[in-house]
Amino acid sequence: MSTDKLNFIAKKLCEKPKGILAADESTNTIKKRFDSINVESNFEMRKAYRELLFKTPNLKNFISGVILFDETIRQEDSEKTSLAKYLLDNGIIPGIKVDTGAIHLEKNSHEKLTEGLDGLGERLEEYKSLGASFTKWRAIITIDNKANMPSDYCIESNSFNLARYAKIVQDCDMVPIVEPEVIMDGEHSIEDCYEVTCKTLKNVFKQLELHKVFLGGILLKPNMVISGTLNKNQASVETVAELTLDCLHKCVPQDVPGIVFLSGGQSNELATEHLNEMNKKSKDFSWNLSFSYGRALQQPSLSKWLGKDENIQIAQQALFQRSQFNSEATSGKYNSENENKI
Ligand code: 13P
Repeated sequence: MSTDKLNFIAKKLCEKPKGILAADESTNTIKKRFDSINVESNFEMRKAYRELLFKTPNLKNFISGVILFDETIRQEDSEKTSLAKYLLDNGIIPGIKVDTGAIHLEKNSHEKLTEGLDGLGERLEEYKSLGASFTKWRAIITIDNKANMPSDYCIESNSFNLARYAKIVQDCDMVPIVEPEVIMDGEHSIEDCYEVTCKTLKNVFKQLELHKVFLGGILLKPNMVISGTLNKNQASVETVAELTLDCLHKCVPQDVPGIVFLSGGQSNELATEHLNEMNKKSKDFSWNLSFSYGRALQQPSLSKWLGKDENIQIAQQALFQRSQFNSEATSGKYNSENENKI
């Protein structure tokens, strides 16, 4: 493992004013997104959509890297250039989702355990040869106070797998994005989310240390500390920023170069506002605070595209605009009034 190389890539991915575009939806998930715009999800349409995103003019001004799905990293554009090579040639680092999804933690349990360790080393060698320099693995933690969730078993087994994944990836000279996502769906309060996020992150870092993962060569991709979607009291932008920062300060070692948030189902505007507020609050973080959004970057583009070639340009403009707003938020310079000028 070359620690210098890992640190260089990790820093590059979260360097202001840039963030990451998560375009690694599994075949099931992208189908749900396409269903929402009445577009059939097939190999060609998925390729057309990803090509549209990646070929957005000047995307590299705001986007450092793109996370791909296994199918996408093998796809070629109409000129027979692989989409991963296209990104590389255009100043964007390709990455790859390497977990294989989540199974039930126990029979009849609603909790999930993310899998994908078997054969990971060999898959990484192939992904590297296809152009990927970094990877992603997402663990899912659900809060349900009535069902006593999350259990310690869920947090600890997912943290173990995340750490084992990160170790294998670094041994292959690639940067692991470590993504423990505390899901925002549910009735829980922001205080519940704070408590569970802190507990999860502490466990994750305990396991990363145990597995001898080089913290200077990872990126953390956490949820923000936020009220459950069904909770009547929705915390203000200010409170979300304060509690998220407090949690991160308590749980994330300073050696980690960057924290790139997921959007998790927040509206596009709120995901940007929350990031902006955090970056406004302090200029003295040891880690760079940026984004690795899926829905909150892609949603406007998807709804403009509608599966039609004639809409490609406006769909690209929508991605460019959202990326620019989030880029501004990495320095606390986003102004929500500009949303109305679109
Ligand atoms: P969202 O920003 O839509 O949550 O997606 C990010 C991601 O990569 C989920 O694993």
